[in-house]
Amino acid sequence: MSVSKKSIQEVLETMQIEDVVSEFVSLKKSGPRLKGLCPFHNEKTPSFTVTPSLNMYKCFGCGNGGDAVKFLREHEKFTFIEAIEWLAAKYGITLEKTVYSDEQQLKYKEEESLYIVNKFAQDYFVRQLKETDEGRRIALQYFKERGFRDDIIEKFGLGYTSSEREGLKQVALNQGFKEESLKKLGLISRTSGMDFFRNRVMFPIKSVSGKVIAFAGRIMGNHKKAPKYINSPETEIYIKSKIVYGIYEAKKAIRKEEECLLVEGYTDVISLHQNGIENVVASSGTSLTVEQLQLIKRNTSNLKIIYDGDAAGVNAALRGLDLALEQDLNVKIVMLPDGDDPDSFIKKVGATVFRSFITENADDFIFFKLKLLEKDATDPVKKTEMIKDIINSIGKIPDPLKRNLYTKECAQRLQIDEAILIGEVNKVVKAQVFNRQKEMNRLQRERERKARQAHSTKTGDPSFPPEPPPFFPEGEMPPPDELAGDFAAPKKTEQNPSYFAEKEIVRVLIQHGDKQLLTENMTVAEYVVAQAGEIFDEFEHPVYKEIVLHCRHLVQKGKTVNYKTFSIHEKDSFREIAQELIISKYDMSPNWETKLGITLRTQPVREENFRKDTILEVKKLRLLWLKKIAKQNTERIKNLPKDDADAMLKLLKTQQKINAAITQLSKELNQVIL
Ligand code: UTP
Ligand code: MN
Repeated sequence: MSVSKKSIQEVLETMQIEDVVSEFVSLKKSGPRLKGLCPFHNEKTPSFTVTPSLNMYKCFGCGNGGDAVKFLREHEKFTFIEAIEWLAAKYGITLEKTVYSDEQQLKYKEEESLYIVNKFAQDYFVRQLKETDEGRRIALQYFKERGFRDDIIEKFGLGYTSSEREGLKQVALNQGFKEESLKKLGLISRTSGMDFFRNRVMFPIKSVSGKVIAFAGRIMGNHKKAPKYINSPETEIYIKSKIVYGIYEAKKAIRKEEECLLVEGYTDVISLHQNGIENVVASSGTSLTVEQLQLIKRNTSNLKIIYDGDAAGVNAALRGLDLALEQDLNVKIVMLPDGDDPDSFIKKVGATVFRSFITENADDFIFFKLKLLEKDATDPVKKTEMIKDIINSIGKIPDPLKRNLYTKECAQRLQIDEAILIGEVNKVVKAQVFNRQKEMNRLQRERERKARQAHSTKTGDPSFPPEPPPFFPEGEMPPPDELAGDFAAPKKTEQNPSYFAEKEIVRVLIQHGDKQLLTENMTVAEYVVAQAGEIFDEFEHPVYKEIVLHCRHLVQKGKTVNYKTFSIHEKDSFREIAQELIISKYDMSPNWETKLGITLRTQPVREENFRKDTILEVKKLRLLWLKKIAKQNTERIKNLPKDDADAMLKLLKTQQKINAAITQLSKELNQVIL
């Protein structure tokens, strides 16, 4: 099932940004705009603005901005269609659904019915817990002994199932549910036909939007033979590798705290919640997967893995680590004291000590590995292995600047020659880039193959299907003069195309400023100033402008420009920007290329190609600047009185020159790239 284009259009034309935002944020009128406290980051003075005339919101503190759909996607983590459905409901628009195929429709209905059965089962388990003598006597008592409060039992939807053989089955069948659905969901056993979960306390596993997709049942009492936990099997609605336990209950807090804690067990999640620590999810005792990390990354880039302080815990932590690094998450690791899990530890020491413990004992992954290494420092074989292992981890970090910092740090700590270490890390990086590209190509081919297959089975036509409907374009940002004034140091990538070019120049200066360009016989900073110095005065972004002007000043005085210049600068905004370039993966806007009207292939490894990187970014900036001048010139031509032929001729000639320069530069730009 999918929503028709016409309906989507209707919703997009109807939606009003202030209606939508005000359902989640309290707004006050301020001139032509509305202001409030940003829901995407912590702040005390409002820098979150809603501009009805532009139908957009924008936070000047964290940089988040866009239209109402974007807001719902960001705030509620809706998909595009979920946002459209929400808006349609709000404005009373009936969505016209286009039905793709009977098969798909059937699948959709089947999934719906699985959710309904699970919901029914959950209600049944809750009733068993609260409304039966046995439930109260055994299970509720057990929860009480563990210290679970009523509100927490309620929040996580905990339940109970007795040892009755067909308790759930009979009630479900009486209600008209199909035996097949119950079997499919693993609620009754395929082999015995009896209830699958018996004599257990029940933990519903929820989707990101809070629907029950599976259950985990913990046995009551100590049975040596039976496993402590049993789980529902995988179904269309429950794919283990794609979900983490507690995400629904945690997502709001994760975004607010800008950090996600990862623990092992169901009871760890619940116990931390009960103590007011809500930004926590569980991997449920299995190794982390890429999809799970991506799910976390949709909410924050900062992950703190809390593991039990035993050998199994250490190994589990190490396994998750490299994968998380590859996803460009900032990973920290906390080892709890030997013998404790988060649940027992917080019970022992209380929330305050727990919080300070995990803050004080959070190791950067590299230090975590180094610590382990130092333990075994006397064994040369182990030491070599460990060094290789660390190199491997560093090589997996996608951000070259971050990688660089870690390499330096590591060389120092291990007292290895930095050049050698860089060489080794680069080998990993190259392999990594190569593999990623191979994987991307494979996925692309796979997608194309599937699309072709689907298309030909549906129509009998083997040709490739038409383009999917375009993804909803990002809204335009307010003009730069709106941004000036109350502009704090921008944390996120701004959506104004000039900002991208400007930011890249700033990055080049900070990242490569003091490196020597041999062919040009000058440093990168000198080159950038020589080639683009006059454009610096035209920079639109206030902080970037300040930075480049400062660089120009330094170059003119013959001083060095490098990362250090900024990372220790007295100005907060300078330090913040330098740091941001180090810690956040740097994205180039996909819109940028479209706006310039050229296609660029981005270079995967910037650090090794700093010359190319520099020249490329300078050219991009010049191109954008030329396009701006061209536009201004066109305006002048338009506004010229008709009889002023001389002036007209002059302007047209200028236009010709600018256009020629633009063509030339575009051509060069396509040649610079690998
Ligand atoms: P634990 O044994 O640490 O369980 O396993 P726990 O969550 O602390 O439970 P309590 O405190 O003893 O009640 C950690 C996680 O590993 C998975 C579960 O997800 C569990 O929460 N696990 C464990 C299983 O899936 N099956 C098992 O038999 C044991
Ligand atoms: Mn436990």
